[in-house]
Amino acid sequence: MLSTLTQISVFGIRKKKLVQFARAADLSTKTNISFNVVSRGFGVYVSYFSSLILMIAFFIGIYFISAEDAGNYGVTIILLTSVSDYLQYFLKQIIAVESIMVSSERAMFITKLNPEAELRTKYDESIGELNQEIEDERVEVIWPLVSSIIMDNFSLRYRKELPVILKNINIKINSGDRVGIVGRTGAGKSSIINAIFRLTEPEPGSKYFISDHDALKLGLHSIRKHISVIPQTPFLFKGTIRENLDPFAYKSDEEIWASL
Ligand SMILES: Nc1ncnc2c1ncn2[C@@H]1O[C@H](COP(=O)(O)OP(=O)(O)OP(=O)(O)O)[C@@H](O)[C@H]1O
Ligand SMILES: [Mg+2]
Repeated sequence: MLSTLTQISVFGIRKKKLVQFARAADLSTKTNISFNVVSRGFGVYVSYFSSLILMIAFFIGIYFISAEDAGNYGVTIILLTSVSDYLQYFLKQIIAVESIMVSSERAMFITKLNPEAELRTKYDESIGELNQEIEDERVEVIWPLVSSIIMDNFSLRYRKELPVILKNINIKINSGDRVGIVGRTGAGKSSIINAIFRLTEPEPGSKYFISDHDALKLGLHSIRKHISVIPQTPFLFKGTIRENLDPFAYKSDEEIWASL
């Protein structure tokens, strides 16, 4: 919240945010108290349990140990009194490991995600020449000016088990066209943008061309670098306006001013 203080002031939503903040703080306190109460309760039960062990050992000793072993018996009882502490420590450690390992579990889950398509493909080079002036890691295909975007029989679904969202759509958008897409909420307008950037890969059989080049064979970097979008909910990355406009610092200041 502290990092967005400026935005909160600018939009004059201090009161609203204060209420939200109080609610979040309440929630956090509630969970913390529950956690502490449960930990204490747990400690009490563990103490009961270890006292029980101590008591059993105590009576067994009284009945079975002879007078010569009285010294050993005393030492054993004293040592047994510390079992309670060790037992609590041991169980707390187990719980801590369990809760901390959840992060590792999530990290392992991420490693199992299916990777996206290739970022660069041989096909990219068939479209435009590589710009060798830019250092290797930024090797960039210079695209010809886009003349059209064509989607043919294009279907898209977000995951295998979900329904198909875009069903066999056919679009042709020529260079310079202004197109409006109208539909109720959830109709799939944003999904078209999603499809243009290949954030989600289309269903088999879909066709997608940019300037007569098969956009499904292009590397993802090539597609995403050459298309830009002004999204429904705008956001800025942290940094200067210049860094937001040209995150990879490819363009000169003059070019940026000209585009503005
Ligand atoms: N990441 C996603 N994973 C699964 N389903 C999604 C995802 N994004 C959107 N959907 C589903 O796809 C359908 C179309 O959503 P989409 O966001 O494209 O609609 P929209 O026309 O842009 O709506 P809005 O006008 O509200 O922006 C909805 O049923 C939505 O639930
Ligand atoms: Mg939308």
